Amino acid sequence: MAVMEAAFDPQWREAWTRRQVEDSLSMPNTYALLLDDKGEPLTEGSKAAGFVLVRRAPGEEELLLIGVRPESRGRGVGKRLIELFFDTARDNGADSVFLEMRANNPAASLYRACGFEPIGRRTAYYRTLDGTTLDAITFGRKL
Ligand SMILES: CC(C)(COP(=O)(O)OP(=O)(O)OC[C@H]1O[C@@H](n2cnc3c(N)ncnc32)[C@H](O)[C@@H]1OP(=O)(O)O)[C@@H](O)C(=O)NCCC(=O)NCCS
Repeated sequence: MAVMEAAFDPQWREAWTRRQVEDSLSMPNTYALLLDDKGEPLTEGSKAAGFVLVRRAPGEEELLLIGVRPESRGRGVGKRLIELFFDTARDNGADSVFLEMRANNPAASLYRACGFEPIGRRTAYYRTLDGTTLDAITFGRKL
């Protein structure tokens, strides 16, 4: 939750509350992966720099959220998290992965660099803090 609070600009209303994360992780089909600021799995005493939250379904997995602390960005932690997500999804038997993002999110360049391609658009799917609507872009990738 500390990374969640640091990573997401409230303007976009993307961050989840503790309650939403707890409810989601209490379901057997949802999991989180966390890495430290070197892109390594957490060990005793190390601090999370980034996380992904993932939902599983038969044969496919969806990246629900990804966040990296502002001070740890631009060092490959986000990319490592996505690669770890791919490895985990493959181990779980998935052959495709998806995610959905607001149309103006600069994270699109990271997703494309990781092999995701846009496959759909939902018009006016998100509403920002000031009431502006934004389309959602769905990205997909075969594993
Ligand atoms: C998106 C996010 C997770 C990326 O984390 P990161 O650790 O900085 O990502 P990386 O360092 O692995 O970046 C990998 C590549 O993507 C590019 N990239 C990543 N974030 C970018 C951004 N916001 N704008 C432009 N390019 C970006 C980097 O230039 C890098 O490319 P390179 O390897 O060719 O230099 C981070 O910016 C973040 O937490 N953003 C706020 C939360 C958010 O919007 N999440 C996505 C919606 S759920």
